[in-house]
Amino acid sequence: MSKDNFTSKIGIVAATAGSAVGLGNLWGFSYKAGTNGGGSFVLFYLFSAIFIGMPVLLAEFIIGREGRKGPVGSVEEITGKKSPFVIAGYLGVLSTFLILSFYSVIAGWSIDYLLNSLTHGFSQYATMDTAAHFGEVSNQLGTQIFFQCLFVLATIAIVIFGIQRGIEKISKIMMPLLFGIIVILVIYSLTLPGLGEAVSFLFKPSPLPEGATYFSTFSSALGQAFFSLSVGMGAVVTYAKAVDDKEDLNSITLQVVFFDTLIALAAGLAIFPIIFSYGMTPDQGAGLAFISLPIAFAEMPFGYIIGNLFFFLLVIAALTSAISMLENSLSVILDKFNIERKVATIGLGALVMLFACLSQTGLNFSCPLLNFTGGTAFMDQLDYLTSLYFIPIGALIFALIVGYRMDTEVVKKQINNEKISKIYIPYVRYVVPILIAIIIVTGIL
Ligand code: TRP
Repeated sequence: MSKDNFTSKIGIVAATAGSAVGLGNLWGFSYKAGTNGGGSFVLFYLFSAIFIGMPVLLAEFIIGREGRKGPVGSVEEITGKKSPFVIAGYLGVLSTFLILSFYSVIAGWSIDYLLNSLTHGFSQYATMDTAAHFGEVSNQLGTQIFFQCLFVLATIAIVIFGIQRGIEKISKIMMPLLFGIIVILVIYSLTLPGLGEAVSFLFKPSPLPEGATYFSTFSSALGQAFFSLSVGMGAVVTYAKAVDDKEDLNSITLQVVFFDTLIALAAGLAIFPIIFSYGMTPDQGAGLAFISLPIAFAEMPFGYIIGNLFFFLLVIAALTSAISMLENSLSVILDKFNIERKVATIGLGALVMLFACLSQTGLNFSCPLLNFTGGTAFMDQLDYLTSLYFIPIGALIFALIVGYRMDTEVVKKQINNEKISKIYIPYVRYVVPILIAIIIVTGIL
């Protein structure tokens, strides 16, 4: 078999940043900042991304390039087939499967809104109750299943071509496009009267909402940071297996964290000035993108262009994340069974489409076994199950593998930088696991 490795460093960064930058940045970050008191959440987020997310991201790169397989195969290579650490690999591929299932439902809504506003414009939203409308749209079972399947089909159509000809190629086109759209949106928002209010809302530490503590805020910020960086699920391990030995993992890691954080903040700077300028409240919750923004797009100058760019942005950001999730879940099949890539991709993709139907709000399904997660809709249950349990546990185990199970010389060889090794190895051994463990325990309590 010929090696399907990335052909350039730009390709690696584009694909990994593409994995990281997704609905979590554009939709999740802004609404979580909005509902968690703004500036304090953002500070905790930055701390989590840089001091916990980044070292785990590097750990996943090290594991993947050393093991040269997906998260299950790589951890088996490193720790042995019977090692309990292999759980992290299985939790990871399961997490990306579950996340992809509800992610594709949200992406489906985005496609629906995009097509609708492209053809009918935004003035339709000016006079309607957009919250009720969002409820109606997301409850149209047949239509939403169609858009969700369309999205998964697009994901399959890229992943089927593998890393070089599928994922790398598409990421190198989509990521600059995505970046360009964000820049346009931010520049537009900088001209709005609500800018000052938005900046102080995002960056000035404010009192926490009622019932929240600094711990709970920290814990949700860390969850958001892991989710946003695509860390803790082995998705980075899966891309790392296709990274040439000569590439510098440290600078790749740094660039991915930089872009992901930049784009989360830029999305906040694009969205909140609009919210404030049009007299809306920032704590709208998950519906921010679908309920509040369309009204603003209806009223503002150039709203047709800005609004459609925004929904287009949501769709392509979701797509570059979805290909990473599918590729990660696929890795375990390709590593374990002798199945052709084409067949495995289509089979797994079909399974995602079927399973995703359970997350359709129109179906009103919830799983009693998952009530402990605190979610009521199935989509939320899957979100909480993965964010509160699977991802932090996975991240903890990946850190432990690099800290304790891998030969120090091997870790040093992968890092290939004296100074960074000297700081990183003790840090990933003693500091990172403790921080994650504290957050897991307090999160569960
Ligand atoms: N990071 C993505 C976002 O911000 C979502 C995501 C979570 C993801 N886990 C992943 C993407 C695993 C790819 C692989 O929206």
